[in-house]
Amino acid sequence: MKNIRNFCIIAHIDHGKSTLADRLLEFTGTVTQREMQAQLLDDMDLERERGITIKSHAIQMDYLFNDEKYTLNLIDTPGHVDFSYEVSRSIAACEGALLIVDAAQGIEAQTISNLFLALEHNLEIIPVINKIDLPGAMIEEVKDQVVDLIGIDPDDIVLASAKEGIGITDILEAIVNRVPAPKGDPEAPLQGLIFDSVFNSYRGIEVIFRVKNGSIRKGDKVKFMATGKEYEADEIGSLKLKKQPKDVIECGDVGYLISGIKVAKEVKVGDTITHVSKSSPQMIKGFEEVKPMVFAGIYPVDTTDFEELRECMEKLQLNDASLVWEPETSAALGFGFRCGFLGMLHMEIVQERLEREFDMTVITTVPSVKFLITNKRGDVIPVSAPSEMPDPNLIQKLEEPFINAQIITAAEYVGPIITLCMDKRGVIKNQVYLTSNRVELTFDIPLAEVVFDFFDKLKSISRGYASLDYSLSGYRESHLVKLDILLNGDPVDALSAIVHRDKAYDWGKKLCEKLKELLPRQQFEIAIQAAIGAKVIARETVRAMRKDVTAKCYGGDISRKRKLLEKQKKGKKRMRQIGSVEVPQEAFMAVLKIN
Ligand code: GTP
Repeated sequence: MKNIRNFCIIAHIDHGKSTLADRLLEFTGTVTQREMQAQLLDDMDLERERGITIKSHAIQMDYLFNDEKYTLNLIDTPGHVDFSYEVSRSIAACEGALLIVDAAQGIEAQTISNLFLALEHNLEIIPVINKIDLPGAMIEEVKDQVVDLIGIDPDDIVLASAKEGIGITDILEAIVNRVPAPKGDPEAPLQGLIFDSVFNSYRGIEVIFRVKNGSIRKGDKVKFMATGKEYEADEIGSLKLKKQPKDVIECGDVGYLISGIKVAKEVKVGDTITHVSKSSPQMIKGFEEVKPMVFAGIYPVDTTDFEELRECMEKLQLNDASLVWEPETSAALGFGFRCGFLGMLHMEIVQERLEREFDMTVITTVPSVKFLITNKRGDVIPVSAPSEMPDPNLIQKLEEPFINAQIITAAEYVGPIITLCMDKRGVIKNQVYLTSNRVELTFDIPLAEVVFDFFDKLKSISRGYASLDYSLSGYRESHLVKLDILLNGDPVDALSAIVHRDKAYDWGKKLCEKLKELLPRQQFEIAIQAAIGAKVIARETVRAMRKDVTAKCYGGDISRKRKLLEKQKKGKKRMRQIGSVEVPQEAFMAVLKIN
């Protein structure tokens, strides 16, 4: 146990965590040159394509230092704010953290929030300034920022380039020398903290855990304390590049367990594993409950796929503990699920994973935050779907969530950012100069205004030089109304939205315009109306006649015509018949495209 080190890598997005993880794996010989490929731990296709880490990944390395063999368990974590739940779970399994800061960018919003998470769990922090090879590296300036932030001796900051392989040995030595060995009692009853799980269709669910006390042997009878279910540890082992079966996982170590568990519900991230006989009297304090920020409906394109979608959601949830959902029905879309996400990126990723990993084509509806409605009788009702909103005459009070948003940016973008936030009903609370050119702005702003396109707008007005982090600050009364959309007179519940009264007219008008662009022409005219209660506030018309996509292709190139028709067919896949009108998936997301 004294030669085990459990650590994670935390950083703002793109500061180089995954690249550094690659180098650590290479230097410790965990992967050979031949096996090496960039961002090795980001093994999901989606992660590779987008160049971001979505999931935490655990991997074990052996490292020889002063003739002693050390076991290093690395947990790579995502940097984007939407995946901070993954970060918090990794942190609970570690004693130390490498805090990576990009030498050309300096400290960003998630550097700070992830650092605080690590400090809350008393992790030993090893700051690493990465990308020192870049011509724009501001090593001294970033060092000062780090010293200011954590009050560390500047000599304790490691300088590195993950890309060029500079400073990697210093980092490995710092891990061995500065991260404390795990504490825990090897003789005590087994307590293993489940911090991740993966669905494997052949062998059942793989559970990833950290032994806090005791130890576990192959063949042991174990119990998951929260569910009370018992299993036999058919296979246990370490997570090297591949799974490496072992006979025992000692106190302090990280490992996996396979025992043919087929039912996704039986595995709960945060649960404690113990032995059936000599079981631990208490569970390890688990993780904080996930607090979803954005809610949306997910529906199968084909209504008969509902049960299959449920199974897929259960499997996905195993690997994504931050996803929450419950069944719901929509008059327009039939049976589906109301899901809670940590943010818009999370929602996009869930939809894509359902399609890629489970081959489920789904329709997602207009995202919404959770509002609180007090009715005339004084009951407080949480509402996260516009269709749940009661008759306005029965409502006494409507409240919406507000957040505390921290934005770090360069001085020249402060003006435009303040304008953007005010346009989003935000109020500036604080403005602090971190250095002569870096400013931290704090805003009080409604969550509903931030979840949609705020981040994209922020990035474009600051040319990428602004980072955002936020936390919920509470609920406050607000003038909100339900905006309905009618297609040929029929309200489409999946297109309704709850919006602020002052913005409702503008919103309704733009939404109708957008829908007009998105709805394909059909053999009859389609009236698109926006209404608040019985009052229609905007209208657009899609004229009749099917658009002939091949009309453009005069001349006789038949293969080109066929291609176009094929494309049109594909585009149709995600359509839903609502009343007499065919509505494409894009239409349900039209709200997001309004300027
Ligand atoms: P997320 O997982 O999405 O949060 O990103 P990350 O922190 O894992 O960053 P990643 O390792 O994907 O690196 C982001 C980009 O920075 C990639 O294009 C890397 O090639 C580049 N990069 C990483 N380390 C260095 C470095 O030391 N020097 C230079 N010049 N580029 C680097």
